[in-house]
Amino acid sequence: MDKLIFLYIVVALLVIVLILYLRNVQSSLKKISQLRDERERLTKENSDLKKKLSEISSISHNCENSIENFKNVISNLEIVSQKNYSEFFEGILDLAISCIPEAKAGSISIIDGRKWKYMAIRGSGKNLEKLKSLDLKSEWMILTPKVSVIEDIAKANEKNVPREYSKIIEEVVGGHIYRSLVLPLKNGGDLVGNCFLDALEDIQFSRNSHSMAEILSNLFSTMITLKSLATLPEVSINNSLRTIVNFYEMKNSGTRGHSENVAHLAVRIGERMNLSPQQIGDLYWAGIFHDIGLIAVPDEILEKPGKLTDQEFEVMKSHTLIGEKMLQIYDHLKEMGLVARTHHENFDGSGYPENLKGGSIPLLSRIISLADAFDTMRRPKNYGEGLSTEEAIKQIEADTPSKYDPEISRIAVEVFKSISTSTR
Ligand SMILES: [Fe+2]
Ligand SMILES: [Fe+2]
Repeated sequence: MDKLIFLYIVVALLVIVLILYLRNVQSSLKKISQLRDERERLTKENSDLKKKLSEISSISHNCENSIENFKNVISNLEIVSQKNYSEFFEGILDLAISCIPEAKAGSISIIDGRKWKYMAIRGSGKNLEKLKSLDLKSEWMILTPKVSVIEDIAKANEKNVPREYSKIIEEVVGGHIYRSLVLPLKNGGDLVGNCFLDALEDIQFSRNSHSMAEILSNLFSTMITLKSLATLPEVSINNSLRTIVNFYEMKNSGTRGHSENVAHLAVRIGERMNLSPQQIGDLYWAGIFHDIGLIAVPDEILEKPGKLTDQEFEVMKSHTLIGEKMLQIYDHLKEMGLVARTHHENFDGSGYPENLKGGSIPLLSRIISLADAFDTMRRPKNYGEGLSTEEAIKQIEADTPSKYDPEISRIAVEVFKSISTSTR
């Protein structure tokens, strides 16, 4: 009997040990499966991370390319702006194609009265000159008021353009156009034509190309507008440009009246410095035109509430160089062009675009930069609420001589102290 009891106890113990063992095995298996899941999750995260990193590096690479492209465009603007209309359009088409990697061909169409004129064509086919001389009607032309993509332009043209003409257009391009990135071209805000940038392979235009197209469309439209004024007398050119600046500033509440304020403040400083009447006159117009290059900077960048990306900031800074190129269209405004280029240079060489230092910064620019800073500081947009006259003067004194010429800064501060709050 005892033996039987003993056997029961042993069996019971064995069963307990087995249960405990199985539980242990079960929990170990669970742990192993959890570890496996965790490993899978980590591997996936790792590969996602790698993918993101490569995306980021490709985006930043593209951005760097865009910045380079944009700088290239600006340095070529001068050459382009001084040529006749036909060479001008060919120049801007070449610049646009060089900036958009997917584009291998392109054209610029302009409305001239009731006619549709091809002003520039780039392609590998034949009949290029013939296309320019065709009698095309303006109503056949596809006009897009915003940067957009048109799929298979040949097919789209078939709806409006007679077959004999659309065939010649195809021959000129020398291949099938899969899609075209279309940039509107405007003169004084009116849509006057389009720049077509054509992809000859089945590839999509990147996001980067789209934003570059926005920038180029703005820039080219501004150049077209300015070029159309070039035949007017000097006084009319100045007044027209001032109207363009005023109109532009009215659109952006943060800059309303800025150029007029800068011009008047600069003249007051110049008078106190006993500059010649000629220099005072130049100072006035330099004040009016110092930020004219901002017209070509897209509103999305100018009015962006948050921090600008490197690319956007680079475009923003380029208003100095663009302004100079714009003013260089007119012989009598070359001096003002120099001020537009150098009004963000600092006395210690820390400014832009060329890190000019001390006396190598033109005198008129050293005056304009003080008037510019004073007016900008008191504006709500740039410094929160906007600084009071006293606070702005304090800031200018703190930034002298790093940013400003100490001699001129002293005189400017006297002027700022003497003005009433009427310019606020
Ligand atoms: Fe500026
Ligand atoms: Fe300014």
